[in-house]
Amino acid sequence: MSSGNDRTFVLKNCTCVTATDTFLSDLCIRGGLITGIGTDLTGDDVYDVNYRVVTPGGVDAHCHIEQPADDGGRQTVDDFPSATAAAAHGGTTTIIPFALQQRGQRLLDAIRRYTTQVESRSYVDYGIHSIITDTCNGNTVKDIPEAIKMGYPSFKIYMTYDSLRMNDYDILSLIEVISEHGGLAMIHAENADCISWMTDRLLSRGLKAPICHALSRPPLVEREAAYRAIVLSELAMAPILLVHVSGGKTIDVIRDAKLSGKPVFSETCPQYLLLTSADLGNETEHNGGEKYVCSPPPRDKESQESLWNAMRTGDINIVSSDHVAFNYEKGDKIQDDFSTVPNGVPGLETRLPLLYTYGVQANKITLNKFVDLTATTPAKIYGLYPKKGTIAIGSDADLVVWDERNSVISFADLHQKVNYTPYEGVPLRVWPAIVILRGKIIISDRSIRKTYGGAFVQRKGLVLPSY
Ligand code: URP
Ligand code: ZN
Ligand code: ZN
Repeated sequence: MSSGNDRTFVLKNCTCVTATDTFLSDLCIRGGLITGIGTDLTGDDVYDVNYRVVTPGGVDAHCHIEQPADDGGRQTVDDFPSATAAAAHGGTTTIIPFALQQRGQRLLDAIRRYTTQVESRSYVDYGIHSIITDTCNGNTVKDIPEAIKMGYPSFKIYMTYDSLRMNDYDILSLIEVISEHGGLAMIHAENADCISWMTDRLLSRGLKAPICHALSRPPLVEREAAYRAIVLSELAMAPILLVHVSGGKTIDVIRDAKLSGKPVFSETCPQYLLLTSADLGNETEHNGGEKYVCSPPPRDKESQESLWNAMRTGDINIVSSDHVAFNYEKGDKIQDDFSTVPNGVPGLETRLPLLYTYGVQANKITLNKFVDLTATTPAKIYGLYPKKGTIAIGSDADLVVWDERNSVISFADLHQKVNYTPYEGVPLRVWPAIVILRGKIIISDRSIRKTYGGAFVQRKGLVLPSY
């Protein structure tokens, strides 16, 4: 059932949850938009959801799809069709993946090329960020204003990885121009030289197991880089968003910045809430630890608690997947030593069910906070609001109807192309029963409507949270 452009579609008896309210209502949808919120609404097509929870479709503002890996040699295995099918099944109706600027390439060329590459191959709506890796002799700062005007107002900048990292001087120049033109810089904060030094030290002692990935990137190297990024943001008077914060004392640095009125925002991901470095194994064994190699690495239980707390206090603003798909096989995720394992874990499909189960149902965050972190605030920060991220008249009818049912995660049931999940065997208590994109049901009974109905969304009007 769907709403054609001139037909009205009524979703009856919803327990609607937004970032701020919970209310019983019917929702009327026409032309892909929410056109009515109230009781006893009627329409051409009516679907009764029997008071199940209905949230706005998820907005996943950090995922890497069809992207060359950090060493330039490999490419992530999920393509746009598989990644966006996975997103849809997991209740995410808008994603923002990255166009990677190769060194020597003009930023606008990278953006245009990726936009063409993914066109008409998506089950969900999408915006596009870019990853800046090269100043291109001054051309990148010239391209940034145009990129923002074209609807690509957010840019990721790395402080680590030899093939991606920018130095502090260049970061200052970039974030200044991004800010002047109303955009936002997303910063991957880890100290590259400290990591290289730690890595060489471990390898020189013959230590090669996946756990050494975590040992080579201790919390201190993240905290130092996060603090430095905040200093750069203050110097350039430019807002920044620290991506994939792994917890612990980095949160203290972020909290201090916010308390002193700095425009610093932050993101975490389910892997930092649910995994620990113990998942990477021990110093002598591999034991599948490569499956959990991502950067920053998962930390410890205390760090997890610091993140749950930071979500409640507003020190963490959004939760994204940072989906990166490499197969668990020799030559891909399995390598002879930890330093060549491609970084990142898959998580587009499991982000919302995991956060709902282990956040909301475990009483760590409210259902409203869940919506805020996974849909409303990402939509605001990245210029999609109020089109996306809420249930309101005039907003896109992107909706998820949730079922409370017990299941256990297995990669074989997921729609990501990658051949493992770091959450194999993890129990879930909820799953999206119905997912609606601009008024069309794209998921029901765990099957997907087989049309690429997703569209590119030009983003503008970033709304940064108060800090
Ligand atoms: O381990 C990670 N997160 N790798 C993927 C790229 C990134 O830095 O987000
Ligand atoms: Zn990163
Ligand atoms: Zn990432």
